[in-house]
Amino acid sequence: MCRSRPLLGMADRTVLVVGGGGREHALCMALSSSSHVEAVHCAPGNGGTSELATNHAISASDLSSLVELAKRIDASLVVVGPEAPLCDALADKLSAIGIPCFGPVQALAELEGSKLHAKNVMRIAGVPTADFHVLDANSDIQSALDDFQGQPWVVKRDVLAGGKGVVVTSDRSEAQAFIESSIQSDGKVLLEAFLQGEEASMLVVMDGSGFVCLPPSQDHKRAYNGDEGPNTGGMGAYCPAPVVTPDVHSRTVETIVKPMHAYLSSQPVPYRGVLYVGLMIPENGAPSVVEFNVRFGDPECQITLPLIKSDVYELLHASATDGLSDYDAEFHDTHALTVVLASEGYPASPIKGRAITGLPMPMNTAWINHAGTAFDEEGTLISSGGRVLTCTALGLTLSIAAERAYAMIEAIELEGSHFRTDIGHRAL
Ligand code: AMP
Ligand code: GLY
Repeated sequence: MCRSRPLLGMADRTVLVVGGGGREHALCMALSSSSHVEAVHCAPGNGGTSELATNHAISASDLSSLVELAKRIDASLVVVGPEAPLCDALADKLSAIGIPCFGPVQALAELEGSKLHAKNVMRIAGVPTADFHVLDANSDIQSALDDFQGQPWVVKRDVLAGGKGVVVTSDRSEAQAFIESSIQSDGKVLLEAFLQGEEASMLVVMDGSGFVCLPPSQDHKRAYNGDEGPNTGGMGAYCPAPVVTPDVHSRTVETIVKPMHAYLSSQPVPYRGVLYVGLMIPENGAPSVVEFNVRFGDPECQITLPLIKSDVYELLHASATDGLSDYDAEFHDTHALTVVLASEGYPASPIKGRAITGLPMPMNTAWINHAGTAFDEEGTLISSGGRVLTCTALGLTLSIAAERAYAMIEAIELEGSHFRTDIGHRAL
């Protein structure tokens, strides 16, 4: 049962969504269908958000302009899509002027900003994760590599690196080279034990009073079919992910979510926002944490929000104002799948500025979220990024959702573009 919070009135609320990708388009869609929301603003937004929200040409890194905008439009909630503004203290600045922010303060955004910090928090909270070494210019790199011999080496930079900070390799010289270059640029680097298993993403909406686990999903990070090719921001995802069985789910809650929530809600300012728990699930079903992000995943957001039956504004506003203990979220018993259409050359060097045509009309069960799109001076929709758009569909089964999403993406024309044709393959 989902109880409306007494403080929320009719459709008189104004929301600001920060960011400009597929995730933010999905957030604008969900928020604009809330019975509480009168107006959605997005900064900077994209071609898709412009149809639902007022776009503002303010970069997600221009914090003072974002705060000014939130004041000017009298936002009752700011929802922050990407991690960088949170790591730069956007939530702290909004809190200082009394505007609720969905997204944690800077000190807690460090869970994503620094992998070493995340490891230290997991150690304090007793949360299972891979063993690791911290290496710096004085370390014996060969002996550290020997410690994890016999399995691929996992090397992680300790900075926000936009998805390019991790190398997993069985080639010792490649691991060594990445360790050395990371120490040179960052002063230190993590060398982590390789975890066997299947990955899944658990998004947990939290505040100081409680937490709500959203249905678990699975992303496809490699560029090409069969999980081949370079790592990307994500080429498609589906939800729920059956690898998270009821048993794995309850182990995740008991061994990861509850201890993290206990730790985060004991901090001077509690965690208000969504904690993205990247899980590795081995055959014995005992999950451990691969990474934390302090925001919705992209494209996980596109397939998770549509499964929330409760009013999304209520949920996010409750989290931003410590109201989750009063909140029971409801979910649809259905499946969602999304496929990313990427520009030619993505991820290495995407070609932008090409016309996009043939976009199918949205339906109740299938629609498009724009990511890297814009309108040129003649009003033609063009590509403006590596991940151009995501086609999302719902279905009573995952294969119906997949059929619908692929029917959409196949209709779209963008010269040189590519997409994976096997999204959901582990579950289908
Ligand atoms: P991260 O940015 O930490 O999520 O790492 C990016 C990707 O590298 C993950 O999604 C995994 O596929 C892989 N990875 C990271 N850490 C490990 C690990 N300890 N064992 C196996 N694979 C890993
Ligand atoms: N899809 C992975 C991420 O958002 O980090």
